[in-house]
Order: sequence, then structure tokens, then C-alpha cells
Amino acid sequence: MTERPRPNESRRRVVALAVTGSIAAYKAVEVARLLVKAGHRVLPLMTASATRFVGPVTLSGICGEPVATDMWDPTYPGELHVALADRADVVAIVSATADVLARLAHGRADDLVAATALCAKGPVLVAPAMHPRMWSHPATRANLAELARQGRVSVVGPVVGPVASGDVGMGRMAEPVEIARAIEELLAGAGDLSGRRVVVTAGPTFEPIDPVRFLGNRSSGRMGFALAARARARGADVVLVAGPVALPTPAGVERRDVETAEQMRAALADALGPDLGGADAVVMAAAVADFRPASASGTKIKKDASSAPPAIALAQNPDLIAEIASKRSGPKPVLVAFALETGDDASVLGYARRKLEQKRVDLVVANAAHESLGHADNRVALVDAAGASPFVAATKDALADRILDRLVTLLG
Ligand SMILES: Cc1cc2nc3c(=O)[nH]c(=O)nc-3n(C[C@H](O)[C@H](O)[C@H](O)COP(=O)(O)O)c2cc1C
Repeated sequence: MTERPRPNESRRRVVALAVTGSIAAYKAVEVARLLVKAGHRVLPLMTASATRFVGPVTLSGICGEPVATDMWDPTYPGELHVALADRADVVAIVSATADVLARLAHGRADDLVAATALCAKGPVLVAPAMHPRMWSHPATRANLAELARQGRVSVVGPVVGPVASGDVGMGRMAEPVEIARAIEELLAGAGDLSGRRVVVTAGPTFEPIDPVRFLGNRSSGRMGFALAARARARGADVVLVAGPVALPTPAGVERRDVETAEQMRAALADALGPDLGGADAVVMAAAVADFRPASASGTKIKKDASSAPPAIALAQNPDLIAEIASKRSGPKPVLVAFALETGDDASVLGYARRKLEQKRVDLVVANAAHESLGHADNRVALVDAAGASPFVAATKDALADRILDRLVTLLG
């Protein structure tokens, strides 16, 4: 039976994203989109001026949350600014006007955005956007100096570039990806994998036959990349050892590209160190080729009509996760393997159980080849010493969180 997962609200990081009145306010929508895409909950707030620049409907549509604009909202029973500040792991003001910087510097709380920032329980981030003369004005400089002195607010940008008036100078808001990355970094300090180092492998390996041909497999790398992105979003320092895939590197993740199983082995040894102390957990989502051509030709093998096609003798590749398990003397690093089979659920689970025992790993993610390879979704069961979970069908992003939930438990 397949069970569809429900989102676990307790594990999602929450950003109160406040927009104030500058032309750059439209870029806050992209920041919201990036944060939502990374799996965070975004609670949008807007000042009255901001609503003149961007429609609240756009922001609420992207965030899937109502936009809060009024501290005196009669439909809210209680103190809205306190409730927002309580829920938010980070309060981010994007774009931040000269005026809101002044309000923050002086501890004012005369509107919902300023009051929420003043009440924040976690970090506050501002992404200023204004004309260069406003930015360089002594009053703005003094406000920023005061915020720096208080040490409660991080500032992203602005940068030098053209502003809305056509003038060029310091005052253009930082790009949305930069702002989203800075928010992610603040959120990482609040995640349940904060302070953990996780090594993830992803994608296929390509084993050369000659300089132009290889033996490979259909792994897209999506599951491993989703695991790396979600582990990072939950606070881990992540090293992603990636086989040949065409996927962008998740924000904040250290990526090491490899092609063959031997190269993946070397990259893992480098990331883990001789005593395996370089990681708290290793998640082997890569589809490492079991076999490679015993010898690769140095030149392209030619077609010869007069003789039979060449036979490719195979050699066995090292079993990377079993090698790491055999070197492990204590509970760390926690080892997570994937078992991919072509049979029905029972044979996939049987194979996963055998893998758990024979390779001496802590958790095996069981999945079927026809549901996994090349798909954005998958259906998996988690098998550990305590037994097997039911199969769950979901996006690879959602499944990554399920696997990481179990990893957090195993890490204790
Ligand atoms: C067309 C237009 C563009 C503006 N752009 C900016 C800007 O980029 N940065 C800024 O600090 N203020 C800008 N302002 C001024 C702010 O909107 C104004 O100071 C407002 O009171 C800020 O209110 P808020 O901080 O509550 O959103 C702009 C005003 C207008 C009319």
C-alpha cells in the first residue's frame, strides 16, 4: 500500500519576509519564490508603501500565505507582530528602504514590519535598496552604524549598479539569489542538522570503454541532489560527491565532481579522512557502477566489418559503502545506503534487508528501478534494524526530508 506523506510543519524553517516601499520590491517576490522552493515557510508582510509597488496577491500567491499589512488588523485576535516574530526563525526585510533602516536603528515599532523586527526572537536581515545619494547620506550612514553597533541585524548589499532613476552607484539591491543564500545561511543555524557534516553521493558513474564510450546507468542524480539541498537547508555542512549529471549545485553545498567509481572512492576518502572523522553521516545515493571494463582502450575502438564485434571483459568495482562500513569502529559516521531493485515490493524489501546486514549500514532506502530512475518522484521504504516502513510515494524533495528525519534520529 502507498501512503502519501503529509508535510511536517515542525521541521520547516519559517521566514517572515517583510517588503518595504522601493522600486526593488518586485525582486522580493523572487526571493520568496526561492525560499519556498527550498522548502521553507514564508510569511509575507508588507508596509503600506510596499503595496503600492507590488500587489499583495502576487506575494500571497507565491508564499501560499496571507499577506500581513496591518498591526491593527481587526480580524486577528491578539498581537500580530508578536505572533509573526514568535513563528519566524528569521525576519528578512527585502527590499529595505532608508526609512525602515531609520526605524530599526531607533527601535521604533510604529508599523507591523518595524514592530515584528523589534520583537524578533532570531536573526534579522535587511537588503537595502535606494538611490545612491540616500545610501551615502550621513543620516543613513549613522543608522547603519547604529545597527552594526547593536549587532542584531545582518545587512546584504546593496551593490554598485544602475538604480531605477538610471543613475549608477551604490544603492542597487543585491540580487535575489544572494539574498536567499544569506537567509539560508541564517536559517541553517536554526536547523536540526546544524553543526553536522554530511557527505552525500549522487548520480551515476561512467566507466570508460575508450576515450569516447563508457558504461553508465540511468541515474539522474535528483535524489542525491535533493538530499544535499535539504540537509543544507536543515543546517548541515554538506559535501556532495556528484557523478556526471547536469544539475545545478544546491546553494551552500560543497560539490566535488567525479566520473568513475574509483574517482568517487578517492573523493569520499578525501572528504572522510583516514579515521572517517570528516563526517557525521554518509548518504550513498549514487548509483555506482558494479562493474567497469577491465581495461579501457587509449584510442577509439574502430568498427571492423570483417571481424566480430569486440568483447568487453568486465572487472568488479569496489563496494564503496561496504568499504567505509568495514573501517568504522564506532557509531559514526552514520551510513545510509540505497537499494534499487527491478522486482516487486517484497523482493525490493528483501534485497534492502540483506544489504542492511551484509554491508553493515544503519539505514537502507529501498526503491524500485522503474519508479526511481530519471523521475522527479519516487516511492521508497526505509529499512533499518527496527524493521521496514511502508512504501511512501512523493517528490524526491519530500522523500529527502523523510530520509533526513530518520538520519536525525540515528544521529541521536
Ligand atoms: C517611485 C518611488 C520609489 C521609491 N524608491 C525608494 C527606494 O528605492 N528606496 C527608499 O529607501 N525609498 C524609496 N522611496 C521612498 C519610500 O517609499 C518612502 O520613504 C516610504 O515612506 C517608505 O515607507 P516604508 O519604509 O514603510 O515602506 C520611493 C518612493 C517612490 C514614490
